[in-house]
Amino acid sequence: MKNITDKLSRPIKDLRISVMDTCNYRCPYCMPADKFDDDYQFLKKEQRLGFSEIEKVVKVFAGFGVNKIRLTGGEPLLRRDLDRLIKFLKRIDGINDIALTTNGQLLQRQLPKLIEAGLDRINISLDTIDEDLYYKMSGKRGKLSVVLDAIDAASESSLKSVKLNCVVQKGVNDDQIIPLLERYQDTNVVVRFIEFMDVGTKNGWTKEEVIDFNDIVQIIENKWKISPVEPNYIGEVASRYKYDNHQGEIGFITSISKPFCRTCSRARLSADGKLYTCLFAHQEHDLMPLIRNNKDEELAQIIASIWQNRDDRYSEIRNQSKDNKERIEMYMIGG
Ligand code: GTP
Ligand code: 5AD
Ligand code: SF4
Ligand code: SF4
Repeated sequence: MKNITDKLSRPIKDLRISVMDTCNYRCPYCMPADKFDDDYQFLKKEQRLGFSEIEKVVKVFAGFGVNKIRLTGGEPLLRRDLDRLIKFLKRIDGINDIALTTNGQLLQRQLPKLIEAGLDRINISLDTIDEDLYYKMSGKRGKLSVVLDAIDAASESSLKSVKLNCVVQKGVNDDQIIPLLERYQDTNVVVRFIEFMDVGTKNGWTKEEVIDFNDIVQIIENKWKISPVEPNYIGEVASRYKYDNHQGEIGFITSISKPFCRTCSRARLSADGKLYTCLFAHQEHDLMPLIRNNKDEELAQIIASIWQNRDDRYSEIRNQSKDNKERIEMYMIGG
């Protein structure tokens, strides 16, 4: 194995793979329904990487030090037979952690076979536990009770961790912080609050809608005392906190107020085989021709050279950035 580092001395440890560009939801902060309507052109089946092609790419990344794979979307559970892919990836030398990020609507039925295939961990999006607001925030597509049942099933399963992702927006769901915590504070389900980010160019992001880390902590500390915990691993995206008087854990993902680029060891692969070195990248690297034409050696060389030339740190320089260039959309790389 040859470990590689980028221009800021960051190793590559983590590959996030979008297996599906479409989604069964239309969350306004990610895929607003008026922009992603019935006429929107998503990828055609043949444009998406097949499972054996994904396996091939992951082998190359594993050779450079990647040990963790996260499957994302759009919505990854729309991809048929995802458990088969997990089985393939699990066999690859060096890969010891396979995780999934999902909205949870299709989870409960698929959960047993995903676990049997080797899924280690799951992160489920949950912005509210109010039924009407949930329906609204999913773009009128999601049913809350179905997702809550799936979360309970995941929490009782053998998965190593179950985390919830709540994107907090001022005036939209900030009144949900306490109810969410109350529901899970005596369970093994970690509740994480994410600062609303300016990902892509279609979600109409403004700074005014962000509720940041300090705001959220203040809301929580009006009720409970919490204190920081050491990260699970170097470069963990969320800062971890524990309660003084409850067993549960809370996480904060603070791309806006406390960027974490310095330890960012994540690469992202879209469903159509394009590599991105940052969530906010406007440059893509199309690996598909090399993958499809079985140019394995060139594939490895290109990936190494892309990583070695990487100097992304968008969240750290967000305020200085004046460019209005198109950026990759969230639904193409799944966060
Ligand atoms: P684990 O730490 O392995 O549980 O995963 P994760 O938190 O990195 O993954 P998840 O898909 O649950 O992402 C949670 C939130 O963190 C999403 O809003 C992602 O967009 C955001 N996120 C993940 N990685 C990065 C990153 O490198 N930069 C930024 N700015 N946000 C990220
Ligand atoms: N800002 C922050 N988080 C976002 N997500 C989607 N769009 C945004 C955004 N603009 C979250 C989803 C999901 C995770 C993959 O990314 O809610 O939990
Ligand atoms: Fe919502 Fe996730 Fe689908 Fe985006 S990919 S619309 S955040 S469920
Ligand atoms: Fe990594 Fe880019 Fe996120 Fe910074 S903004 S942590 S470089 S993905």
